Amino acid sequence: MNCVVGSSCSMMASRGSTVLVLILCSALVSCHAAGGRAGRALFTTFNVLNYGAKPGKQQESTQAFVKAWRAACDFDREARILIPPGVYKLGETIFQGPCKSQTPITILLQGTLQAVSDISAYPDKGWISFDEVNGLILTGGGTIDGKGQDLWKYDDCKTNPDCTHLAASIYMTKVKNAKVKSINLINSMGFHMHITNSYLVRFHRLKITSEDGPNTDGMHISKSNTVKVSRSVFRTGDDCISIGQGSNNVTINKITCGPGHGISVGSLGKVANELDVQGLIVQNCTLVGTTNGLRIKTFPASGPSKASGMLFKDIIMENVKNPIIIDQNYGSKSTKPSRVKISDVIYQNIRGTTISPVAVNLKCSAQEPCKNIRFHNINLRHTSNVRVSSTCTNAVVQRTGLQSPQAC
Ligand SMILES: *[C@@H]1O[C@H](CO)[C@@H](O)[C@H](O)[C@H]1NC(C)=O
Ligand SMILES: *[C@@H]1O[C@H](CO)[C@@H](O)[C@H](O)[C@H]1NC(C)=O
Repeated sequence: MNCVVGSSCSMMASRGSTVLVLILCSALVSCHAAGGRAGRALFTTFNVLNYGAKPGKQQESTQAFVKAWRAACDFDREARILIPPGVYKLGETIFQGPCKSQTPITILLQGTLQAVSDISAYPDKGWISFDEVNGLILTGGGTIDGKGQDLWKYDDCKTNPDCTHLAASIYMTKVKNAKVKSINLINSMGFHMHITNSYLVRFHRLKITSEDGPNTDGMHISKSNTVKVSRSVFRTGDDCISIGQGSNNVTINKITCGPGHGISVGSLGKVANELDVQGLIVQNCTLVGTTNGLRIKTFPASGPSKASGMLFKDIIMENVKNPIIIDQNYGSKSTKPSRVKISDVIYQNIRGTTISPVAVNLKCSAQEPCKNIRFHNINLRHTSNVRVSSTCTNAVVQRTGLQSPQAC
């Protein structure tokens, strides 16, 4: 095994440690089982401690992390970056690709990354950013703590329409073929994760928890194709997952969402020339105590775009305020209608409880009515036996199967 200068190589020639490495390897990353022969390690480890990272200190480890990344990224075979247990203080940290290896780089996060609480440390969209990386696995059970509670006071998006969001804890742009698995994210400054201009990114077994911070969406997806989120728990101050313009083929499976604002498509139509949203499946999810359940929101007076081909299936609501809502007059006082065309949306097997008497609320655009909206087996009831109802404006709706509330 050759090791690059300055890197730590955990591979030993002895038989015992090779066996250990093989076991670890098959448990944590997918290896080419056939490629490894006895005595030859399958990957090289780049331990951040060997690049000067200082766990448990007030001193920042940003440069050490960037150096470890550089070494791993420039390594032409399988590389793993190890972040051992401990708390590491980081300012803005950019993991820049492209990288040399044909196999994904693994970041094994066992410790906790903690953001420095200095607003000027984050001039860009991300705290920890991955840019132009093709092949990435981020896993290890560790925690990414944005310390947002120290900086939320700088978010002025409630009053300033041209505000910039605070940095996302994980910002991925032009990332391809990535997997994020078994990671905890807490108290992000802005979004916990922001995925944009990316392709084939999968998230499993994440735990996202924030106190009630502004715009602390669990995940925001935009301009990306084939994103899958599954088996994760989102407890946030804003949307659990928001699906913005240019999102295609997004699948959300078996997530639990709440508290927070629910699962949202949008907001769409805020800026000119937005890309369409096409292909979304939300399946086997539970929403608990959220303000919205399944929401599609578009701004009035928008430019033209489309949001179509969406399936919401096998969803359980518990104490949700607006279980099913389309709001095409979102957030503004304009009387001009939205020009986002919403069509081909299926709500199937949606059941549980709401705290508001209007369980289904479709407020579509007067200029572009919602088309081909289908409801199949809807069973929503009020938490205190109040009769629930539906309201629909500018919507063409088909209903089959059980309908509670009654169709509008
Ligand atoms: C859509 O996503 C699924 C997995 O989530 C993938 O198998 C499929 O190839 C994707 N389709 C397209 C057209 O990219
Ligand atoms: C989703 O939930 C439905 C109904 O609860 C169940 O029948 C189905 O097996 C689940 N699907 C998956 C992929 O877990």
